Amino acid sequence: MEVVIQTSAQHLATLAADAVAQLLADRPDAVLGLATGSSPLAVYDELARRHATEGLSFARAQAFTLDEYVGLPADHPERYRTVIDRDLVGRVDFVPGAVRGPDGLAADLRAACEQYEAAIAEAGGVDLQILGIGTDGHIAFNEPGSSLASRTRIKTLTAQTRADNARFFGGDVAAVPQHCLTQGLATIVAARHVVLLATGRGKAEAVHQMVEGPISAMWPATVLQLHPHVTVLLDEAAASRLQLADYYRETYAAKPAWQGL
Ligand code: F6R
Repeated sequence: MEVVIQTSAQHLATLAADAVAQLLADRPDAVLGLATGSSPLAVYDELARRHATEGLSFARAQAFTLDEYVGLPADHPERYRTVIDRDLVGRVDFVPGAVRGPDGLAADLRAACEQYEAAIAEAGGVDLQILGIGTDGHIAFNEPGSSLASRTRIKTLTAQTRADNARFFGGDVAAVPQHCLTQGLATIVAARHVVLLATGRGKAEAVHQMVEGPISAMWPATVLQLHPHVTVLLDEAAASRLQLADYYRETYAAKPAWQGL
């Protein structure tokens, strides 16, 4: 894992946007993996800005979102499909149908999960996956106890995640759905490059476990230690519990310019 610690959240967003822009320059028909939530918002703002002012184009790209609440009506403002449209997709030039997410309204949820896995495979897999991390160490909605070999499936959200996400539902925990569909941990680690963003002290323990803890289903993000190309973009607060923070800083400062993220 490459750990990059920066004082400015905007700089983190710029680094992630650079990685996306470089990928699209190399492969305009790349497949992106998109997280929802607050962590990638500055990245999406930067990508939208580059689309508007620098001609960055997503017209040949495809994208897959990570997860979706089960049962939220199609017009609900917090349905992840609606959220990603608002945060990124509607602000750039993906062609209609190029961005897909798990169908939390499907009559047959199990079949919907299998179809989603098949669609990702048919697209050739995800080239670059943008990720956040939950305070309990979840990635996508793979809560503690998730199988490290899991694929897209239905999960039950923990009380902690529902409380964390209540801010998007007017502070009402009961309004946060209990179930979701989520890419599994094995689905996520199949992406060729993972770029995870975390900011704020609330993420510090989960980040410490992810980077420096033992691989365990209790901290699902630790599965990323098995991935050969993960970039972890952190502000100082999210990095505050890392034992080897100074080493990560030295490593990044000494990084050869040709290497990229
Ligand atoms: C969202 C997702 C979640 C979030 C995580 C952090 O699609 O998969 O794993 O990335 O809950 O959420 P934020 O970024 O809002 O702190």
